[in-house]
Formats: sequence, C-alpha cells, structure tokens
Amino acid sequence: MISTVVLPVAGLGTRFLPATKSVPKELLPVVDRPLVQYAVEEAFRAGIRHVVLVSSPVKSALERHLQPADAALVAELEAKGKHDLVAALQSATPPGMTVTVVYQAQALGLGHAVLCARDVLAALPGGEQQTFAVMLPDDFIDAPAGQAGCLADMVALHRDTGAWSLAVEEVPRAQTDKYGVVSLAEGSLRMTAMVEKPKPADAPSNLAVVGRYVLPGAVFAALADVKPGAGGEIQLTDGIAALLASHDIRAHRFAGVRYDCGSKLGYAKANIALALRDADMGPALKAWLGSGVLA
Ligand code: G1P
Repeated sequence: MISTVVLPVAGLGTRFLPATKSVPKELLPVVDRPLVQYAVEEAFRAGIRHVVLVSSPVKSALERHLQPADAALVAELEAKGKHDLVAALQSATPPGMTVTVVYQAQALGLGHAVLCARDVLAALPGGEQQTFAVMLPDDFIDAPAGQAGCLADMVALHRDTGAWSLAVEEVPRAQTDKYGVVSLAEGSLRMTAMVEKPKPADAPSNLAVVGRYVLPGAVFAALADVKPGAGGEIQLTDGIAALLASHDIRAHRFAGVRYDCGSKLGYAKANIALALRDADMGPALKAWLGSGVLA
C-alpha cells in the first residue's frame, strides 16, 4: 500500500511572471480548480491519504488552499442553501487527506526537494524504506473518462508486481533537453538508464519522464549521495538512475492527455480542453470559437 505523495512546489514559477509574482504557479486555475488541487484529487483517487507539500515560505497561499474550509463561511453558505458552493469549497481537501508541509529553504533542485521529505517519511509507519509517490502538479494529466488516473494505475502496478514506475511519453527529439529521458531493456518496460535534460544528439531515446513517480524509499539515500548534475542542481533523475541496477523501475505509458502547465501554451490548451468539456460553458464556448470572431 502506498500512503504518501510528495508534491515539490517550492519553485518560483518564473515562466509565468508576472502572474506568479504573488500567486504560486500551482494555484493557477484550469477552468475552476488550481493545478495543485487536480494533483491532490488524482492522488486521492490512487488511494493516497497523505500529502507532503515541499514548499517555500513565500508560497503560503498553497497551504491555505489545502486547509479545511473556513467553518463560518461554510455555515453561512449552508444557511443560504448554497450547497454547490459548499461542495466546491470543501473539494480542495478530500475527506481523510492529511497534509504535512515542509520547506525547501534553497532552490537546489528537484532531487533536493524530494530529499526534504525524507524525515517526514521516516517518521511514518513504514519508515524511510517505504514506497511513496511524487507528483509534479504542473504536469496535468487528464485521465480518460471514467478512469481514476495515471497515479492510480502506477499504484496498481506496484501492488500487482512490486515494480516501481515513472510516467513517460514520447516527445519530439528536439525537446529532450527539457526532460529526464529513459532507456529501456530490449522488449521490456524496465528502465536501464535515465539522463536529465540530454541534448537531442545525446539522448538515449525520445521517451521523456513526466511528473508522476512511484519510488522505493531507497531513493532518499541515493539522493543524499548525488552530486549536482544538469543545471548545477541535485536531480531526482540522478538519484533514480543510481537505483536502476538493483530495483525493477519501469516506464509507465499512461492513458489520457498530459498538458505541460509549466508552459503558457500547455496551460492554455488545458484550459481550452476542459472548458470545452464543461457541461455549462462547453457548448457556448464551442459555438463562439466557431463563430468567426477569432478570425
Ligand atoms: C523535471 C524533471 C524531469 C522531468 C520533468 C517533467 O524537470 O527534472 O526529469 O522530465 O520535470 O515535467 P523540470 O520541468 O522541473 O525542469
């Protein structure tokens, strides 16, 4: 059983300035819910009941979003019969989900951010060696209708086979330098190598890691030994790469569509896709898009 997900959210979100001057990028909404909430909901559907937010003290609005709704506001809305608004308010904290916040004091890389969660995991039942998940909220994965989502499938893979996994998708070769890129054993999904942000000419494949990981607790000790890598940062990729010889870590080709909401284009696409599907505004938006007004 996997009980905990680590959400590294301390990054400054400079690609979205000036929007992210005072609003954490993980609070940017896709239609009506912030990115962090989609991640927490996906984790909840995967059976996870504990979120470790690795955050920054300047992003306290993120913690506030994940706190239980203000009781006085809930009572006021209930009294007015606005039950849909109460449900919307309470959806930010799924029932039974615990949130622990730790701070990453310095932006030393994604691997360093995950390492900041080590003590929290160590103090839980199961201890430091337990399997846990990592999600990057700006990789928004829209699951096919009726499916629980990418992380739920990865948790099921671990339950059924004992294997750990990373979500991957094919990217244009010209973009390998934006991702961790994996190599697989011949005819299998087991990973044999992983490299962070290789130049297209050096990339072992065009299979890129997107922000979902189910990892053995052994990654903490590996990360503690990792030296600064790509971009001078402690890379999660390098910690995982150190485990590949001894652990069955697989590439998971997920169902659904991934939107890179760390980029303005991906963020715009996610909003359009979800707005078009929205029962209230979808038909009107579709009609507007087709009306020639944008020509
Ligand atoms: C991080 C990881 C990278 C992964 C990517 C997915 O990079 O380091 O391996 O492919 O997320 O979004 P970042 O986007 O933080 O530069």
